Amino acid sequence: MGTRKLQAVIDSMAASDGAGVKLRRSLGSRPNQRFDPFLMLDEFFSDDPNDYLAGFPSHPHRGFETVTYMLDGRMRHEDVFGNRGDLGPGDAQWMTAGRGIIHSEMPQQAEGRMRGFQLWINLPAREKMKPAAWRDIPSRDIPTVALENGGELRVIAGAFEQAGVVTAGPVRGLSTEPMYYDVRLRAGTSLVIPTPAGHNAFMYVYEGAATVGEDARHLPFRSAGLFTPGESVRVTAGEAGVKLLFLAGKPIGEPVVQYGPFVMNTPQEIMQAIDDYNAGRLAVAG
Ligand code: CO
Repeated sequence: MGTRKLQAVIDSMAASDGAGVKLRRSLGSRPNQRFDPFLMLDEFFSDDPNDYLAGFPSHPHRGFETVTYMLDGRMRHEDVFGNRGDLGPGDAQWMTAGRGIIHSEMPQQAEGRMRGFQLWINLPAREKMKPAAWRDIPSRDIPTVALENGGELRVIAGAFEQAGVVTAGPVRGLSTEPMYYDVRLRAGTSLVIPTPAGHNAFMYVYEGAATVGEDARHLPFRSAGLFTPGESVRVTAGEAGVKLLFLAGKPIGEPVVQYGPFVMNTPQEIMQAIDDYNAGRLAVAG
């Protein structure tokens, strides 16, 4: 199968979510524009408090996982189960909504830069109704690999091997076997990332530019590049270097029915989620 090729590019679109937070959405920006098991990727990036101050007040989720990764600024998570976490630069948070959670994500600053990402990863049918779980991952728990070419790679999920040394990230043991790296490469340098051949893999450039895939195609700034199946992905940084997210996961291969923050397999399950939410049964402990 060899090296992966770029098969599609999803340009990010300006979007607004929560109480009016301005963001860029690539995956998930149009109906059914997903890459199994990944449902959505948002980047929020602004120096203007008016773009982020309203935050994401109390809202529900069911049927999937959300991963928040901060680069700049501070955000506080609070949920109905009493979990509370402060995300700062370099921190991550992994939330499994399972059968239901209600939470808020609110900025803890009134000025300055707010920058980060939220990724949604689907759950297979048999796990959609498992109890909710939440995990705060401070920056110090995310290993940074010094790459042989002078760049660096942070391992948030999965593991990365270089010269026989395996660096494992804090998130492991999930059925979609996600790999989540934050990769920073110097101008003109290349990196080959090994991948399980059947995983779906994509990259999102958040600074600079890169050429990617076997045929070295340009992946524009703030776009998600989706790859064909294969055993590895090659990326080469442009003249100003590149910073990008690399994501890969095992496809679930089930029908996806989404209604806002509920992602299930059938319309009936969506109706159930709405009924449960309205009746106060969505997020119950146990
Ligand atoms: Co949320």
